[in-house]
Amino acid sequence: MKIYDAKPILIGLLIFVGFVSMPFWLHGGKVSPPPDPKLDTPAIQILEKKECVASKEYMRTSHMVILNDWRTQAVRNSKRFYVTAGGANYPASLQRACMKCHSNKAQFCDTCHNYIGLAPYCWDCHLPPKQETAQATK
Ligand code: HEC
Ligand code: HEC
Ligand code: HEC
Repeated sequence: MKIYDAKPILIGLLIFVGFVSMPFWLHGGKVSPPPDPKLDTPAIQILEKKECVASKEYMRTSHMVILNDWRTQAVRNSKRFYVTAGGANYPASLQRACMKCHSNKAQFCDTCHNYIGLAPYCWDCHLPPKQETAQATK
């Protein structure tokens, strides 16, 4: 078989190679491992039921929606508590709820956000949890 016009094939091949190697060159030559958020904080270890303020699936995709609601409720309507579907009551607070359980910001929030190149500006004002340097090295 004879290839009559190799040009489109070559272009197609180049585009293909470009896509396949995209994760490589997007991250400056390092292929980042997929995020692996850690749940082993002291506050979560002592939980009887290892549950978040909503289902894991919901939290994974929509935690920013909850945070937004909490902020609006707390700041505008002075509603400072949040009752989960299971009846547990938490302060509607980034620092006093989310970051109390997820006190390992670097191994939790940041692993996902860094992966997609997102840096929420919340920490310009809200205090991040204090982390031991020993804990920060995984
Ligand atoms: C009472 C402790 C507690 C509080 C408060 C809490 N979480 Fe969680 N969170 C957990 C636990 C435990 C899990 C794992 C749940 C599971 O495996 O079903 C989790 C899971 C998650 C996940 C999914 C992680 C994954 O691996 O996909 C996200 C995202 C998350 N939490 C964010 C938040 C945010 C944002 C807040 C505040 C709005 C918050 N959490 C408040 C304990 C908590
Ligand atoms: C399982 C991965 C994962 C974990 C764990 C996680 N996030 Fe996120 N977060 C995301 C993704 C993905 C987005 C972007 C979603 C989008 O743009 O639609 C996001 C977006 C956000 C946003 C919106 C920021 C913006 O500029 O739009 C906030 C706020 C946020 N996350 C806070 C947190 C906090 C606080 C924690 C830790 C308690 C946390 N997230 C843990 C994956 C995660
Ligand atoms: C410019 C400073 C600033 C930035 C940036 C900021 N906040 Fe806030 N936030 C505040 C202030 C001030 C309050 C009111 C504190 C209070 O009344 O308890 C507040 C309250 C909140 C509350 C309810 C009260 C509490 O204790 O948490 C939530 C939830 C919240 N912010 C989430 C966020 C999230 C998520 C982001 C990032 C997407 C963010 N904030 C960015 C200043 C800021």
